[in-house]
Amino acid sequence: MNFKLSKIKSHSFDAEAIAVCTKTNQIKRSTLLDTLNKKSGNLIAKTLSAEQFEGKAGESKVIRTYGFLACNVVFVFGAHLEKKGDLAPNELETIRCAAAKAAKRANALKIASLAFDIGQWPSGSFQEADKIQAAVEGMILGSYRFTVYQKDKAAITPSLQEVTLLVSKNSSSERRALEFGQAVAHGTSLARDLVNTPAKDMTPVEMAKRAKNLGKGISVRIYSKSEIEKMKMGSFLAVAQGSEAPPALLHMTYQPKKKSRAVIAIVGKGVTFDSGGLSLKPPASMETMKDDMSGAATVIGLMDALKTLQPNVTVHGVVAATENMPSGSAIKPGDVATAMNGKTIEILNTDAEGRLTLADALHFVIQKKPDLVIDLATLTGACLVALGERCAGVMSNDAKLLKKIRKSATKCAEMVWPLPLIEEYREDLKSPIADLKNIGGRWAGTIEAGLFLQEFVGDTSWAHLDIAGPSWASKDLPYGPKGGTGVMVRTLADFLMTY
Ligand code: BES
Ligand code: ZN
Ligand code: ZN
Repeated sequence: MNFKLSKIKSHSFDAEAIAVCTKTNQIKRSTLLDTLNKKSGNLIAKTLSAEQFEGKAGESKVIRTYGFLACNVVFVFGAHLEKKGDLAPNELETIRCAAAKAAKRANALKIASLAFDIGQWPSGSFQEADKIQAAVEGMILGSYRFTVYQKDKAAITPSLQEVTLLVSKNSSSERRALEFGQAVAHGTSLARDLVNTPAKDMTPVEMAKRAKNLGKGISVRIYSKSEIEKMKMGSFLAVAQGSEAPPALLHMTYQPKKKSRAVIAIVGKGVTFDSGGLSLKPPASMETMKDDMSGAATVIGLMDALKTLQPNVTVHGVVAATENMPSGSAIKPGDVATAMNGKTIEILNTDAEGRLTLADALHFVIQKKPDLVIDLATLTGACLVALGERCAGVMSNDAKLLKKIRKSATKCAEMVWPLPLIEEYREDLKSPIADLKNIGGRWAGTIEAGLFLQEFVGDTSWAHLDIAGPSWASKDLPYGPKGGTGVMVRTLADFLMTY
C-alpha cells in the first residue's frame, strides 16, 4: 500500500473509491460533501436518507455511483462521537476504525485506488497530523493478515495499492505524521507476526534472530545460555532448565543521533511457549500460550519503529526468552532459585514463570542505570478476570510516569487502567525458606505479581503493564484480525516521542 497526501478536494479527486464522513444525516450546504453530493445528482443524500444513516461514529455506507461521479464508489462514514464511560474512543480512534473499514471494503471490492478525506473529520483536541497518522495506522493494521502458513497466498493478496489522504495542510509535520503512522503500523505488524508464529518455529533462538534482523539503527547483543549462566541469572535459568530449546537474552539498543535526553529501558516477557511446566496447564488454557512472548514481540516491534521515529532518548530493549516446559530436567515445585541480584526464590508454582524470567531481565537492565523502566508481560490470568480482553493493567512506583503512560495510551486508544501496588499484600510473597516465593495468596494475583517484580527494580522509576488480556484477540477487532495484536507498540512509540 502506497500513501500520498494531496490538497485536492474530494469532489475533484480521481480515485476508484472516495471515503468521506459526516456527523449527521443532513448534508450541510456549501460543504465539500455537499459539492460531491450535487455532482452525484443528489445520489449520496438520497441513499443516506433512504438507508436511515444517522452519522454516528461506527456507521458506514457504501454508495455505488453508476457513472454519476468519476469514482465508482463512495464510502460514507459517521463521525459523530457520543462519549460514554471511561476509556471511551476519541476522534482519532474513530478515524482509525473508519480507515481500516475503508481499506477492507476496497479490498473486498477489488479496488486499487482509494482517497480518504482527512480534513472533514472532527479534530477534537488533535492536529491534522494526528489524524493523518491515525488513518495510516488504521489502513495498514486493518489490512494486516498472517499468511505465512497459508498455501494459497495469491487469493489473499490485497487489491488496494494507492491511498491518497486528502488533507487541508501538507507541510513537513503532516508528511512526518504519514511516515510515523507507517513506522508504528509496521512495528505493530511485526509484533503480530512474531506472536502469531507457532511456538515450534518462534523459539528463543529464532526470536533472537528476528531481533538481529532489525538491521541498521538498532544494535543487538544476544547472550547465549552459557553467558546467561555466567551472569548468574538463576531465576531465568530455572524456567529454562526444563526445555530442550536453549534460552537467549536479547539486548537491543537504540541510540539517538542528537544528544540523548534520557535513558529508557523497555523489558518484555518472552516465554515462547507456556505449558505451565510441571504445574501443567489444562489443555484449553494452553491453546493460546504461543502468545506468552507478546511483551517481547512488542519490544522488538517498537525497536523496529524507532529506526524511523528517531526519538531523542536512548532506548534499551531487553527480553529474557525461554520456553516453559515440563520434563525430567524441569524445575520442581518447592525448588529454590537464586536470582541475578542475589535474592532467593522458592518456586511453588512453575506456571508463575513470567515473573521469574522478568526478575533477572529487570535486574540486568537496571545495571545500565536507566532513568526509567517499563515492562510488558502477559503475566496473569487474574488481569483478564479484572479488566477483560481489551484492557491492560498498569502498576507503577512513580505517579508521573504512570500519568505519562496513560496519556499516550489514551491518545493511541490502547486501553490501560491502573491497579494499586498495595504494600500490605507483600506479606503474601514471604517464604519460610527463601527470600521470596513466586506466588502469593488466593486474591489479587495481578497486584501480587506486580509486587514481585518490584523486588527487582530497586528505586528506579518503573511501570509494569500486564497485557495478558489485550495481547491476544479472541475475535476480529476493528483494525486487526483474531490473534496477536501487537498491543502497546503504538502507545510506547508515542511515549518515547513525547518524553
Ligand atoms: N502466561 C500466564 C498468564 C496468562 C494467562 C496470560 C492467560 C494470558 C492468558 C502466566 O505465566 C501464568 O500462568 N500465570 C498464572 C499465575 C499463577 C500460577 C500465580 C495464572 O495467571 O494463573
Ligand atoms: Zn505460566
Ligand atoms: Zn506465562
